[in-house]
Amino acid sequence: MSSLLIDDISMRFYLPDNSHVQALEDITLELKSGELMSVLGPSGCGKTTLLNIVAGFLAPTSGKIILNGKTVTGPDAERGMVFQQGALFEWMSVRDNVSFGPRMKGQQASEYTENVDHLLDVVGLAAFKEKSVYELSGGMQQRVALARCLANDPDVILMDEPLGALDALTREKMQSLVLKLWKETGKTIILITHSVEEALLLGERLLVMAPRPGRIHKEYRLPFADMGVDADLREVKKHPDYSAKREEILSMIWDMEEEIMGRGEEEAS
Ligand SMILES: Nc1ncnc2c1ncn2[C@@H]1O[C@H](COP(=O)(O)OP(=O)(O)OP(=O)(O)O)[C@@H](O)[C@H]1O
Ligand SMILES: [Mg+2]
Repeated sequence: MSSLLIDDISMRFYLPDNSHVQALEDITLELKSGELMSVLGPSGCGKTTLLNIVAGFLAPTSGKIILNGKTVTGPDAERGMVFQQGALFEWMSVRDNVSFGPRMKGQQASEYTENVDHLLDVVGLAAFKEKSVYELSGGMQQRVALARCLANDPDVILMDEPLGALDALTREKMQSLVLKLWKETGKTIILITHSVEEALLLGERLLVMAPRPGRIHKEYRLPFADMGVDADLREVKKHPDYSAKREEILSMIWDMEEEIMGRGEEEAS
């Protein structure tokens, strides 16, 4: 069985004044194939840094990422990324955006068209294939980004605040879509979010990180992502365990933020 191992990762950024930031310290995690993990934590706790290291965009100061037995040494189509916004090719049609990966691999239209059409159907954009990206709403653009990522058939999908720029209603619809795609494709997914509710709904595993240095604070295994695959997310939110967990995690994050503010004030005085 394939797996993603984040093996004792530490990351230190050196600054021009010779000081440094310990963005991550001793992060070890293993994700089995098909697991969906959400990551939550105060601003600056190293979430994006961790995702960039898994993506291969950044080399860690120590530790390694091992996917299916192989050490990651740089970016690769086996690890797809979905950003908050702005990562599409604005001047290309929806179809050309989604088929970009296969085309870059040298595939002919006859090889990828069926899959690209299928993916556009799954994300509800079959009628918009020929439109340019700039003609689409933010929610539609994020659906293109998901389809484009899936067209590369990655083993792992990495999402950094993928729904953060959307209005509440569109965001809820997209959360359902992420769950549907997760179940249909069986991909391993890591999803960063600032929303406790989103982390609860989309995290079969939920990782809470703490700052300075960025580290794992607590991990949960939750039933809500499985429940949400077939149910309305508003129904899932009515589950008594959901509100209990939401309160628990909100206070946890709140306490961390308070501590950061306190430290900030001490450093400033
Ligand atoms: N290229 C860099 N050079 C120096 N410091 C950096 C660099 N990238 C990140 N950092 C620092 O590392 C820490 C973690 O940053 P990171 O962007 O990973 O946090 P984050 O959890 O994603 O925050 P946010 O929730 O605001 O997106 C921060 O203190 C940040 O200032
Ligand atoms: Mg970030």
